Formats: sequence, structure tokens, C-alpha cells
Amino acid sequence: MSIRRTFLVFGATGQTDKHFISLALNDGHHVRVLARDPAKLDSTIPNLEIHQGSITDPPDLDRLVDGADFVVSLLGDAQLQKTQKINTTFVRNLVPAMRRHGVSRFLYQAGGLSAPPNRRLSPALWAIRNTIARGHIGQHEDNEAVMRYLAEDAMDIEWMVHRAGIGSDGPSKGVLERSSRKVSIATFRDCAAHNYRLLSDPTAVHTCDLSSYRK
Ligand SMILES: NC(=O)c1ccc[n+]([C@@H]2O[C@H](COP(=O)([O-])OP(=O)(O)OC[C@H]3O[C@@H](n4cnc5c(N)ncnc54)[C@H](OP(=O)(O)O)[C@@H]3O)[C@@H](O)[C@H]2O)c1
Repeated sequence: MSIRRTFLVFGATGQTDKHFISLALNDGHHVRVLARDPAKLDSTIPNLEIHQGSITDPPDLDRLVDGADFVVSLLGDAQLQKTQKINTTFVRNLVPAMRRHGVSRFLYQAGGLSAPPNRRLSPALWAIRNTIARGHIGQHEDNEAVMRYLAEDAMDIEWMVHRAGIGSDGPSKGVLERSSRKVSIATFRDCAAHNYRLLSDPTAVHTCDLSSYRK
């Protein structure tokens, strides 16, 4: 991306986002974020615009979305999502705000164990979801409700969902690419780089793919 763009990012203090924000800033873009605790971010970084707030205490979305070129959600609160679909409620408010401001491109990061609309997980992924990853079921159900909403009610928006498989915050293990069936256990850094590339990939629009390392 050579033209200077504005990225509006939710989940800025999370493990994927810290890498995502660095990529965008290093390329000379402007990054606007909503953070519950701005002290977790370095407010002296040029081109990083920090707004304090929570998605559960509806922020002024018109103010946040205005002037954005890309909207990115790397949100997660596994504990709260055990009982509440906070991301779905939020995205249902976010999309109308995007429409009001003519902002179309939206990347949402879900998990590899979140099933895309009208499709089942493979038996292996289903087994993992219901055993060792059981603690995140609420988060996956929330992600699935977001994907259903996007597919049923937001086809006018250029959304793309990355169903990431993340295992560690280590160094890069390679380049991820979209896959409908294969998922790699990637690093946060590689997932962030994949998200960053997806945003400028028109073939990723209206997909809910997994990601797998290029051979
Ligand atoms: N972690 C994994 O291993 C993994 C694997 C695959 C997919 N995913 C998916 O990736 C997405 C993000 O996960 P992650 O692990 O990268 O995130 P994370 O490190 O858990 O960070 C989540 C981010 O969301 C923010 N957040 C949570 N509740 C918020 C609220 N009410 N208002 C504003 N911000 C809020 C957190 O802010 P605070 O700093 O204030 O908490 C944090 O910045 C999720 O959909 C998850 O299903 C994660």
C-alpha cells in the first residue's frame, strides 16, 4: 500500500494487533485505535491516534469511523464471551456506522475453530474445539454469529474474515495464505502480516478462510 491510509483498529492492545499496528505505521499509514486502557499503548508514537473506550459501552462510532479507509477487528474477551456475544452486538452497530461514512472494507479476525456460515468444522477441528479448547467455545460462538450477520445482512460491505490458528508469539515461521481447509498453527506476527495483506486483496472479500503456511 503506497498511498497513506487510515486504519481504524479495535483490539489494539491484543497480541495480534501490536504486530498489525507496527506494520501499518512502518508503511507510513495513520492508525486510529479504541483501547480500554490507553496506558497500554505508547501515546508518543507518530500517526497513532488513541481513543479511550470499550465496545461494551458503545463508543461514538461515527467519530471513530469518519475518514477511515479500513476497519479492523482483532477483538476478544474469552471470559465475557462465555456468556455474552459482545463482538456480534458491536459489529451490528459498527457496520451501519461504516455505511453512514462510506467506509467499506472490514477485516474481522475469528478463530480456526469458529465454523464459517453454513459449513461444519472438520471432525478433527470439532474434536479440538470440544476438548482442549473448550474454554473458548463462547468466543467461537460469538465469532460465528458475527460471520452469519456479515453473510446475511452486510453483503454491501467488503468484509473478510480470517479464521486464524495461533499458537505462540514467537518469530515468523513463514508466509500465510488463505485456505478453505488447511490451518497452520501460526504466530501472532504472521497472522498480523496475513491480515494486513488481506485488506488489500480483493479476492478475499466475502471469504471466511483459514490460513496455512505457504510451502
Ligand atoms: N489468541 C489466540 O490464540 C487466537 C487464536 C485464533 C484466533 N483468535 C481470535 O483472534 C481474535 C483476537 O484474539 P487475540 O488473541 O489476538 O486477542 P487478545 O490478545 O485476547 O486481545 C483482544 C483485544 O481485544 C480488546 N478488547 C477486549 N474486550 C474489549 C472491549 N470491551 N472493548 C475494547 N477492546 C476490547 C483487548 O483489550 P484489553 O487490552 O483492554 O483487554 C485486546 O486489545 C479473537 O476473535 C480470537 O477468537 C485468537
